[in-house]
Amino acid sequence: MKAVRCEEYGGPDRVVIREDVRAPEVTDGHVLVDVAAAAVNFTDLLFVANEYQVAADLPFTPGSEFAGRVAALGAGVSGLEVGDVVHGSVFNGAMAEQVLAPASSVSRVPEGLSMAEAAAFRVTYLTAYHALVTIADIKPGQWVVVLGAAGGVGSAAVDVAVRLGARVIAAASSSDRLRVCADLGAEAGIDYSTEDLKSRIKEITGAGADLVVDPVGDRWAEPALRAIRWGGTFVTVGYAGGEIPRIPLNLVLLKNVTIRGLELRTWSQRLPEETARARAGLAELVAGGMRPLVSETYPMEEAVTALSRVAGRVPAGKVIIRVGEDVQ
Ligand SMILES: NC(=O)c1ccc[n+]([C@@H]2O[C@H](COP(=O)([O-])OP(=O)(O)OC[C@H]3O[C@@H](n4cnc5c(N)ncnc54)[C@H](OP(=O)(O)O)[C@@H]3O)[C@@H](O)[C@H]2O)c1
Repeated sequence: MKAVRCEEYGGPDRVVIREDVRAPEVTDGHVLVDVAAAAVNFTDLLFVANEYQVAADLPFTPGSEFAGRVAALGAGVSGLEVGDVVHGSVFNGAMAEQVLAPASSVSRVPEGLSMAEAAAFRVTYLTAYHALVTIADIKPGQWVVVLGAAGGVGSAAVDVAVRLGARVIAAASSSDRLRVCADLGAEAGIDYSTEDLKSRIKEITGAGADLVVDPVGDRWAEPALRAIRWGGTFVTVGYAGGEIPRIPLNLVLLKNVTIRGLELRTWSQRLPEETARARAGLAELVAGGMRPLVSETYPMEEAVTALSRVAGRVPAGKVIIRVGEDVQ
């Protein structure tokens, strides 16, 4: 089969397209999917650079998120049928004509999403929903600060929070990126490349933010934490900025702040009921018109461009690699 391959670690320009990659075979408890679209995630860049928490052995096929049709079901898999339109997530392997995924990581696509949207939806929106709802139980009218708000997880968090009635402050690195967030319904924007994050959040909210969702980390986490109200919540989701922040614990003590971590892969395995509830909540929002922001799509042959665009912080929302024919 045809697949994007990483044969040596490095930047996005290291990946190549191969036509003769061995297709996966279906195994017990797994689902084999004919991929129509694969999303580019920041994590793919980390795997290709060999900078993720766990290494992918060379050579490997990048891609952690996909949508397509079920080609075969392994023994013990129930609730799905061959031909079903599904989306799912894996560590690696999605940027290929076929992918094998554990059944617990594959689900039917909510009605109304295109293949590209379905590929863009699963990881970012589930991450955003768990941060906002499962962990923080946000309420209408609360102030939610989203860092990296124009990115994949960030734009999903803005979208979901706005739809749930929260007042969203988007933080991103340019006025263009903040405009995208405003279009998603963010009430205020902070350009954290030029403005002081902490004082601007305090200025906008008065008492401080109720919740911070942080997929960026680095030098932005601490000022955002300092701008949380007494008893507020900070959810650490990722470190796209590069550095993993070291937080002075007295900041947590003084304002009775809760800091929570969220790692989607283990949540789905360990908390299947919460995951099912989150999926149902997201399906309701999709039924109400919510769609992920897909800003760019590329054929598989242009995977280097697709990965480079995400590495360069250029696109807002999600970048998609088209694998099958039926992808708009
Ligand atoms: N915990 C989980 O389960 C989970 C799930 C999904 C993703 N993640 C993690 O969350 C993070 C964000 O993922 P994503 O898919 O939203 O990525 P993304 O689409 O690339 O967005 C990341 C955003 O971070 C900002 N950023 C700041 N400094 C950056 C830098 N040096 N390089 C790149 N971006 C930088 C960029 O926005 P500005 O240019 O506007 O600053 C960018 O839009 C990643 O670390 C990813 O691994 C974790």
